[in-house]
Order: sequence, then C-alpha cells, then structure tokens
Amino acid sequence: MALDGIEPILQERLAELAAQGTVKGEEQVIRAIRPAVDGFGPRCLLVGQGERGFLRMNSNSYLGLGLHPAVIAAEEAAARAYGVGPGAVRFISGTHVPHVELEARLARFHGRAAAMLFSSAYAAVLGVLPQLIDAETAVVSDSLNHNCIINAIRLARPKVKAVYRHNEMADLESRLRELVGQVQRVLVVTDGIFSMRGDHAPLDRIVALCRQYEGHFRQGIITVVDDSHGVGVFGESGRGTEEHCGAAADILIGTLGKAFGVNGGYLAAGATLIRYLRETSPIYIYSSPITPAEAAAALCAVDIVDSGEGWRLLAHLRRMTARLENGLAVLGRELLPGPHPIVPLLVRDTGRTAQLVTDLFAHGILATGIKYPVVPKGDEEIRLQVNACHTENDIDYLLDVVGKI
Ligand SMILES: Cc1ncc(COP(=O)(O)O)c(C=O)c1O
Repeated sequence: MALDGIEPILQERLAELAAQGTVKGEEQVIRAIRPAVDGFGPRCLLVGQGERGFLRMNSNSYLGLGLHPAVIAAEEAAARAYGVGPGAVRFISGTHVPHVELEARLARFHGRAAAMLFSSAYAAVLGVLPQLIDAETAVVSDSLNHNCIINAIRLARPKVKAVYRHNEMADLESRLRELVGQVQRVLVVTDGIFSMRGDHAPLDRIVALCRQYEGHFRQGIITVVDDSHGVGVFGESGRGTEEHCGAAADILIGTLGKAFGVNGGYLAAGATLIRYLRETSPIYIYSSPITPAEAAAALCAVDIVDSGEGWRLLAHLRRMTARLENGLAVLGRELLPGPHPIVPLLVRDTGRTAQLVTDLFAHGILATGIKYPVVPKGDEEIRLQVNACHTENDIDYLLDVVGKI
C-alpha cells in the first residue's frame, strides 16, 4: 500500500533519467562462457543472443584469473571443505582458515603489518573511513574519487569536507593550508587508479605534501588510497599505484573482485588500526564476510600474481594494451593513453556514445559507454578494458570494427 503512494514519484524520477539519457536499462545476462579457441580468447554467450559469442571488453578481471583453472579448483575444494557460505559474521563463527590465511597473504603482498577482509571494496571504504573521522577531522578528497568514498564521507560527517581538483597538487596544498588551525586530524583520500580514465593518483607527491603539512595538525594527516583498479595489475609486479609511484599510503584499500578475479574487498595497514577496526567497524562486525571458498580462490589468485606466471600475464596484458592504444591512435581516435588496461575512447557526446556501444554490440563486442553524470558533460567515452585472456586476434578484430563504424 505504502509503495503505491510513492509509485508516481518513482515513475517520474525514472522518466527524468530516461530523458537525460542516463538510464542503465536492461542488463545483459551472460549464460555461458565459451573457452578460447583458434587464437581467439573466450567469448560470452548472452541470454537472447543464441549461440553468438561476444568479445568482452568491459570486464574488470584484468588478468583473467576468474577463469583460471587453479583458482576455480581452489574455490571448489574450499566449498567442499567448508560449505558454500560463511554461516555467520566473523566474530560469531564466520572466520575460517582461508579468511585468516588470505589476510596474512595480502598483508605480505602489500608489505603491511596486517590486512582485513570486507565483503567488497565498497564495504571496506564504508567500513574504514567513518571509523577514522570524528568531529575534529577534516577530509580532503580528489574531485574524481569513486562513489564509495563520497558516500563514506557523507556517512561520517567530518567537521570539514574539502575537494581538490583531480590530481592537482597545488590545489591539494591550498586545501591543506586552509585547514591549518581548524581541525586536529586530516584524512587525505584518493583513488589509486581512477576507474573512468585509467589514470593514477600521483601518490608520491600526495604523500610528500602530507608529510610536509602533518606537523600543523595535532593528530597528523592520514593518507588513504583506494586502489581497487590498481591492485594486482598496476606497477611492475602488480602491487598497484603504490608500486608504480614508489610511495605508500598509511591505509591501502583494494578489491578481490577485479584483477584477482574473485570477489570481496580488503584493507592493508598497521596492526593496531586493524585490531581497532575489527572491534568497531559495523560493516565488518554485523555483516557476513566473503565465503571461505572465495577466500581460498583469492589466496590462490594472489599467489599466481606473485609468481612467474603472474609476471607473464602482466607482460602479455601490457602488450595487448599497447597494441590497442597504438591501433586506435593510428585510426585517429581520441584516447587517454597510459599503462593501465583501462583504455578510454573519448566520444564527447552522450548520443554518439550510446550509438557506438550499439554498433560494437552488433559486431559481437561488449563495451560500456560512460556518460554524464558519471563523467562531466563533454567527457563521454567508451571505456575499453583489456584483459590477459585477450589475444592479438581479439585486439585486431576490435580495431577492425572500430575502424569501420
Ligand atoms: C575506487 C573503487 N573503489 C571501490 C570499487 C568497488 O569495488 P567492489 O566491487 O569490490 O565493491 C571500485 C569499482 O569500481 C572502485 O573503482
């Protein structure tokens, strides 16, 4: 009954989104994945599209580890050993050996004293930032930070919220200077890799600036990087933006659901902070963790990334990314080039972006159009994401199609 009362309001809001051209609409449903064959990578079969295979250029599984036989086998073995669900939140009876082993492995991978799992990186950000923000804290955030950071800051209600222009260090410095004398503690928060552009935060410069200004605040400046698109795939050995920039934030947040190919989120930091969060972070305490099987799969994925095989996958991925970027440049397409496998093809118009996505789909290619309000008007793009399952044939096919349409 009560829902009938708000029905017209919801309908009106949906109509507004449709009029702006920003509805996400019907989701494509993957019903099977056809393995690689004849020099081409795996293809997705979609509900309603018969036996036609689609080349997936919009997956975050950058190393293809979600389809890796050893990762699948690890998940399967743990599901048989522990069942398919955690059965409880962590402090009741939800903690299993794979959770604990994965936390220790992630801490070692990122060179931190400890790590802590959350059900996703989104949950990790919501579970960490508010616990560090009190009525005497200011938060300073990059203007292009991910939605989870924006919502975590809203939830925490700091004394001051300040936003600096994307990756502009002079603007970050101005924000820090303005805060002197106003608050006791400052949190500077940034994405590592920015998911819509594939560019990265200049973490070395951010950390240096924070060290320069921290003496002005009684409780210092805490740096937080959410490197969900960077961990496992960016930096020479896949340790993310920190490795690429040669600098570490105080707190690193990552996901298991992108390069590691599984599901879940985590933070890596000092031992006391993590002990504190296990005692106080509501999302950690009152919500179920990832399954033991997911933890076992993620542990296997981290081991692969941190091995010769991982290095080979990263090298192949870099070659495929360069092949795509060079090919698009030859076709005269406007790009935001860079070493990360997110390759934004700038279209700069909402209607043309939607049309290009439709045309790619007609040629058996899945790609995502990124439109306002996710990006500013005029920055509309197709976000192409290369992954290590792609072959030269796949990239050449994509280039051929882009050249034609
Ligand atoms: C910076 C950032 N944080 C968090 C997330 C969400 O990750 P998860 O799916 O693990 O919640 C994303 C994913 O797009 C992201 O780019």
